[in-house]
Amino acid sequence: MCGIVGYIGKQQAYPIIIKGLHRLEYRGYDSAGVALLNGHLNIYKKKGKVSELEHFIAQKDNTGSVGIGHTRWATHGEPNDVNAHPHASYNQKIALIHNGIIENYAAIKTELLKKGYQFQSETDTEVLVHFIEEIRQNEQCSLEKALRLALTKIVGAYAIIVISEEEPRQLLAARKGSPLVIGIGTEAGEYFIASDATPIIEHTKNVVYLNDNEIAILGESGLHIKNLQNVETTPYIQTLDMALESIEKGGYDYFMLKEIYEQPNSIADAMRGRLIAKDNYVRLGGIHHYLPHLTNAKRIVIVACGTSWHAGLVAEYLIEELARIPVEVEYASEFRYRNPIIEKGDVVIAISQSGETADTLAAIELAKSRGAIIYGICNVVGSSIARATDEGAYIHAGPEIGVASTKAFTAQVTVLTMLALMLAQHRQTLTKEQFSFLLHELENIPQKVNKSLRLNDSVLEIAKIFKDARNFLYLGRGYNFPVALEGALKLKEISYIHAEGYPAAEMKHGPIALIDEEMPVVVIATRDSSYDKIISNIKEVKARRGKVIAVVTEGDVLIPEMVDYVIEIPQTHEALIPLLAVVPLQLLAYHVAILRGCDVDQPRNLAKSVTVE
Ligand code: AGP
Ligand code: GLU
Repeated sequence: MCGIVGYIGKQQAYPIIIKGLHRLEYRGYDSAGVALLNGHLNIYKKKGKVSELEHFIAQKDNTGSVGIGHTRWATHGEPNDVNAHPHASYNQKIALIHNGIIENYAAIKTELLKKGYQFQSETDTEVLVHFIEEIRQNEQCSLEKALRLALTKIVGAYAIIVISEEEPRQLLAARKGSPLVIGIGTEAGEYFIASDATPIIEHTKNVVYLNDNEIAILGESGLHIKNLQNVETTPYIQTLDMALESIEKGGYDYFMLKEIYEQPNSIADAMRGRLIAKDNYVRLGGIHHYLPHLTNAKRIVIVACGTSWHAGLVAEYLIEELARIPVEVEYASEFRYRNPIIEKGDVVIAISQSGETADTLAAIELAKSRGAIIYGICNVVGSSIARATDEGAYIHAGPEIGVASTKAFTAQVTVLTMLALMLAQHRQTLTKEQFSFLLHELENIPQKVNKSLRLNDSVLEIAKIFKDARNFLYLGRGYNFPVALEGALKLKEISYIHAEGYPAAEMKHGPIALIDEEMPVVVIATRDSSYDKIISNIKEVKARRGKVIAVVTEGDVLIPEMVDYVIEIPQTHEALIPLLAVVPLQLLAYHVAILRGCDVDQPRNLAKSVTVE
């Protein structure tokens, strides 16, 4: 949640910070603010998007070569100018930005109120800045020491950056549970710092990822990283592997559309070097040392949230069917609080695009504490989840910026399919012919996704017809059930139309009561082992006058006769259909949202990385 960015060096900080905030805006966008140091502290904050802040600052003094900026996703206090970050100490000497939640803020606030402190905002963050200043004054110490002492008393998650008028040639940053990346500039004493690498890559490729419970001191005296016991460690400098084009819209109106269209490439990238069908070769290099644990697992538990959880459901079907290992898929947020049973021989797989989802991270920590081996399937390289897991595989989808996940889903499913195939090979649960056929089919998926993307115009026509619907039902069976869930989630999050995904056969146990001539029902009815059964489900909807939009296999002549609208996708093996069937559903959600005037890249109330519980 929320993006934070900071700069110190010889250049003007403001243009770097504001551009950085635009790049980070996908992480939160209900208000934004900057603080600039130029002899004294100037703080500007505004409710709304970064562009509103930019407009507001245009006429103001925005000079200074040290600055910080924040784009917020509110947790404590509604989105308004006052609750926006940065927050300042009562004497306006210190400014601080924060991503996360200070869980014990209420107790500290009570103490500070007793001492006469006054609070402007309702945020937990403002408590921290007053607390640091209180310690600084009491101890008559440096900002660095005051920050360190304050952090030893803080409970919760944070990534913070602090600047001070009295010690103007340094930026202080700290993290626990929320990410921070430090970019090392070309000139001595120049540093960039941000929630992710996107504001940094056009300035430098040399970065250091801050770890939990570390404080970074950046400025004229170089880069110093210390732990909360004041012990200095040597920074580990890494080279960023990210192209600037990958974080720009490249001619598309929205990142989401660009990302939908990138899927033939992103799926191919997920397979690159890992799958060569003609050689019967499939191998995820990152899963190596612990491969025997996985191959011999008594049970696999998958933990994830949202779309990643849907990818996990597809994996359950894949791994159980192809490799014959029992799989359970858990919402990370439920798993972590329900005292789950983890036994010897269990393996946990955590799936996360961002690699920063707080619930998934906490589920990993819990599983670890019970002795499980953890595999991570992440997109963001160097992310917290990638680092917290024992082994894993990146999905290599490239930066996903649209809040609604699209290409990450298909890349996750691709990697999980390869994992299932790898396990099947080791466990000899498939015949040579079945194995080889699946490898060839998977290798051909990017071309078929390309074909599915040609459906765009016909999907747009369907979107025009249903853009004012108040509800949507999505139905699927087997591998297509998670696709129904994912299609419904996409529509909900970007168009604000209520949508439910259901196993098609479950409909008769309740949701069928919702069906009338007003109800659009998207049925994924491809030619697979449930084909005859899903025809019966379509009939049940039609008998109640529901409007059926069916996703069918190319060349199907039966279903088009009985439904209202048809979307034809290429044929493939049943286990791989989710990779094709989800594409028109992503496009449907996109077009409906655009026709309703919604901002598909930054839907209301949402944020890309959910780094709070
Ligand atoms: C999907 O479109 C979402 N906005 C959301 O459900 C997301 O998948 C979820 O928050 C998990 O994120 P992660 O993959 O980064 O962990
Ligand atoms: N808890 C802080 C707030 O509500 C920070 C939220 C964020 O990460 O943007 O202001």
